[in-house]
Amino acid sequence: MKRIFLLVVIAVTSIFSSKAEEGMLIPSIVKAFESDMQAMGMRLSAEDIYDVNNSSIKDAIIHFGGGCTAELVSSQGLLLTNHHCGYSQIQSHSSLENDYLKYGFWAKDKSKELPNPGLTASRVVRIEDVTATVLFDTEGMSDQERYAKIQRVIDKLIQDAELGTHYTAKIKAFNYGNDYYMIVKETFKDVRLVGTPPNSIGKFGGDTDNWVWPRHTGDFSVFRIYADKNNQPSDYNESNGPYIPLHFLPVSMKKRTPGEFTMIYGFPGTTEQHLSSGNLKYIMDQERPARIKMREKSLSVIDASMRSSDLLRIKYASKQARIANGWKKWIGQLGGLKTVDAIQIKLNREKEYNDMAATKPEWREKYGMSISEMNALVEQYKQADFGYSMAIEYLYVGPELFGRAREMNKFLSNYTTFIENGTLDAEIEKQISGAKVFFKDYDEATDKRIFELLTKEYVKQMGDGPIPSMLDNNSAIDLADCIYKKSILTNEVRFMKFMDKLGNKSFSHLKNKDLGFMLWADADANFMNNVIPDVRVYKSSMDGLLKTYVAGKFEMFPDVKHWPDANSTMRITYGKLEGSAPHDGMQYTEHTTIDGIITKNNSGNPDYELLPRMRELATAKDYGDYAQDGELWVCFTGSNHTTGGNSGSPVLDADGNLLGLNFDRSWESTMSDFMFDSDRCRNITVDIRYVLWVMDRYSGAKHIVDEMKLVR
Ligand code: ARG
Ligand code: GLU
Repeated sequence: MKRIFLLVVIAVTSIFSSKAEEGMLIPSIVKAFESDMQAMGMRLSAEDIYDVNNSSIKDAIIHFGGGCTAELVSSQGLLLTNHHCGYSQIQSHSSLENDYLKYGFWAKDKSKELPNPGLTASRVVRIEDVTATVLFDTEGMSDQERYAKIQRVIDKLIQDAELGTHYTAKIKAFNYGNDYYMIVKETFKDVRLVGTPPNSIGKFGGDTDNWVWPRHTGDFSVFRIYADKNNQPSDYNESNGPYIPLHFLPVSMKKRTPGEFTMIYGFPGTTEQHLSSGNLKYIMDQERPARIKMREKSLSVIDASMRSSDLLRIKYASKQARIANGWKKWIGQLGGLKTVDAIQIKLNREKEYNDMAATKPEWREKYGMSISEMNALVEQYKQADFGYSMAIEYLYVGPELFGRAREMNKFLSNYTTFIENGTLDAEIEKQISGAKVFFKDYDEATDKRIFELLTKEYVKQMGDGPIPSMLDNNSAIDLADCIYKKSILTNEVRFMKFMDKLGNKSFSHLKNKDLGFMLWADADANFMNNVIPDVRVYKSSMDGLLKTYVAGKFEMFPDVKHWPDANSTMRITYGKLEGSAPHDGMQYTEHTTIDGIITKNNSGNPDYELLPRMRELATAKDYGDYAQDGELWVCFTGSNHTTGGNSGSPVLDADGNLLGLNFDRSWESTMSDFMFDSDRCRNITVDIRYVLWVMDRYSGAKHIVDEMKLVR
């Protein structure tokens, strides 16, 4: 009797228990949350949100380029996503003559829409729980046996699902292998740019405002999906027509009210809610600070270059945004986690978990050790993990020399195969055109400076850890001078000359004399031999422990709302349109208006630069019918649990109408990748009425607005 009472009390007051807003749900099982969502104001049914046999909201949600989310908003394949999601496409169409970054771009009609080779847009056809099939009869097997068996079953299921269709199927582990879902997708490959606002709207606030509330960014761009005559995916072809979607989102012109229900549908990338206290501590004390340092160095160089000329500004715009984005997010995460004392919260939860496990011999046996084992594993492998993170920052985010070397290495390794297949000439052409694209956005002096600073920092951070043998404390500057004077990887003219005289002699020179290539080969070998093997063991052992730990949560705390960590699959999150009070004595209102754009512009910070038209329209209060109570809303916040990948996701109202596009979180919220706090975590949305205003009043692209279905 006493025990039952105790259990009930714990279930009700457990610190695991989360408020309604936490979590990212799998759409195919949204039925389980339907009543909770309806209690918060939603008027849709689970079937309106996700259905396999009939069209549903799901069919309007698009995975954009594999990293962002987008949504269909017209019967002619019109697609909205964030400006920063379409940024590399916008940038690649830009030049000094056609500076779309600076002035924006709007196709006058469909024939002027711009193709984007390589860009994809995928729709989810269905999501199937295949856990029972995948895990069938794997109990009691050794890890290796089980892994092999699971892989065989997965391959077969995928093969069957794809048979006779143009779909692709993938099976992903959820909850660290406690569950498996198959996701079947239809992928479109002809996706054209329809329009974009200028950077002074789409990126208004730049890095100053990135991850920050109050916010005034018109972070949207417009694309269109094209399909063949049968409305099916096809490579780019002039004769393709606009894709006719199964569902597109109506756009809400209705008055917004604080407290109203909001729901976000999209493709969140990664969350790590289950990290043990020791793991979180390592990340907060060592891993994140070092990565932040590395990026501070490269950003100091890139920012200075970009300020020095318009040409460099255009060349480095996209790269700078990518590097700065992670850098600033991490700073916010550390701040948030420290403020709420995340480590102490973790320790309390771990104690609660262990205490619960101690209440039954069976639980003690299964779950009693999982937390201490996770913490011990972190201690054992954190140096390896650190070496991995540093190598990513140095070799993949740092100087671009290394990316060129990887490309060349791939080419050389396949050289004889190309000859045997008779494809050598075509491959050489590919290398040359690829290099042209690369060097268009590259500056030798900038890369050299990045190389110098990051090499030094990398060596320093690694301390006694494994580094490439060519590097030591003092080699950075000398190496930089030699490499950037002679290497074929760092200069377009030298590279083209090299491609002109391919053969054993030049290959041997590259491998034995080109210090740039040699350093990369050295670093790559160090990475592959001294870092990766340990990290593999670490990750797979940790996944195994997490699987048990999470199973324990399910079993011992059945009344808590559990949700699987984000893994780039389609999810739903719901909450309210609301502000927050993340700091003592400070209240964030839930929306911003165009007036704030002008106030920020008055500050003189170049991140708030405007083109004259914005001031003209704002001064004239020319809001069309996009205003609410005389105000033109720009952005609003909500308590929806989102992460990277949710960019561009539709924010829907209680009836499934589009309220706006999710594009960011407040700085205080970025900790939600590790721990969601419903009092402080807020996602940031650009109001769709501002988006329409920019199209219609600002850009004279009313024809795009007219394509959409507005509900009043
Ligand atoms: N922070 C947002 C996201 O994670 C927006 C990034 C783009 N904006 C920028 N100023 N870099 O992707
Ligand atoms: N801007 C992010 C993205 O590109 C979304 C913001 C977040 O991480 O919540 O997905």
